[in-house]
Amino acid sequence: MQEAIILVGGKGTRLRPLTNHTPKPLLNVAGSSFIRHQIAKLMDAGVGHVVFATSYLATLFEDEFRDFSQDLDISYAVEDVPLGTGGAIRNAGRLLRGGPDDPVLILNGDILSGVDLRDLLAGHRERDAEVTLHLTRVADPRAFGLVPTDDHGRVLSFLEKPKTAEECVTDQINAGCYVFRRSVLDAIPGDREVSVEQETFPRLVARGGRVYGHTTADYWRDLGTPLAFVHGSADLITGLARSPLVGPPAEALIHPTAQVDPTARILGGSAIGAHAVVGPDVVVDRAIVGAHVTIGAGARIEESVVDHDSTIGARSVLREAVVGCHAEVGADNELPAQLRLACGIRIPAQGVRVSGTAVACPTVH
Ligand code: GDD
Ligand code: MG
Repeated sequence: MQEAIILVGGKGTRLRPLTNHTPKPLLNVAGSSFIRHQIAKLMDAGVGHVVFATSYLATLFEDEFRDFSQDLDISYAVEDVPLGTGGAIRNAGRLLRGGPDDPVLILNGDILSGVDLRDLLAGHRERDAEVTLHLTRVADPRAFGLVPTDDHGRVLSFLEKPKTAEECVTDQINAGCYVFRRSVLDAIPGDREVSVEQETFPRLVARGGRVYGHTTADYWRDLGTPLAFVHGSADLITGLARSPLVGPPAEALIHPTAQVDPTARILGGSAIGAHAVVGPDVVVDRAIVGAHVTIGAGARIEESVVDHDSTIGARSVLREAVVGCHAEVGADNELPAQLRLACGIRIPAQGVRVSGTAVACPTVH
């Protein structure tokens, strides 16, 4: 039986405040928690047993899958203190059931990818590799692990998050999805924190291990930042990215219980959550609107996430914003781009404006 490990123990700091109460893989993307999209993809590739390597808010994963009735065994390897990516793999490996030579799929818990996992596994077997990494090319590799390969796909080095321009020797990066021979992951030290990127991969390469790259040009995105998160969700809805859980390509995904005024325009792959209320002349463009959110008439929400139970007042404008849950933005606010609003925060009507248009004085002197 094919087995997999998903690394889901990170704190998701770049997505705060969305991740204050919810781990990144459990955030809603295109109508389902992100991890459910990953699970559906793994099941499509024939995976029958998955181990979640959890740490931050670990119990919420068990809550999410308590009633999961599909044909997949799920195990939980909980780290009381985070063990790092390598330590997490090793710790989750204790719950695997296969033999030492069996290939194990390993996924970062925030990767939206079109890679064909069966191809990845087939390439691993053909090369009799110890580790095969899915690699992709990006315009700016600095936020990733750099992985140059030779003409046969053999990995030459692994450099996590280069700091200088000279270190950026390739645009080919670690796509956060691997196949490990089980005996190789069992050999990761189990008595301390280990980074698979900073320690395990460089050491395997240095000792001449059979480490190969599987480079593809498929859709790929790491959903770890707010903008990537909203773009990933929109791409799933518009069909640029595929998930077995998302229907045919559409301009928007509106929950059947949401009330959207007929004059509102929901565009660019936006998602509107359960029981949300969207007023007249609102524009929601490439954004995620959570459950029980209310958006007043004429508001404009672009490339933003508004978390559940929040209110955006009439005519207010949000761009690349992240609004925590239970927040209240009054009417006629124009928030600076990339603003993050804490959960429960209140901004009064006309409280914030970035453009030069005159701001009315709401108090009487
Ligand atoms: N269980 C557990 N324990 N999981 C962890 C831990 C830990 O201590 N630390 C991180 N994780 C999980 C995160 O939840 C996430 O799913 C995954 O490991 C990767 O962590 P990120 O924080 O998202 O790393 P990154 O995006 O900066 O970089 C990683 O992914 C890039 C591709 O998106 C690296 O693997 C890079 O090399 C890679 O290019
Ligand atoms: Mg990431």
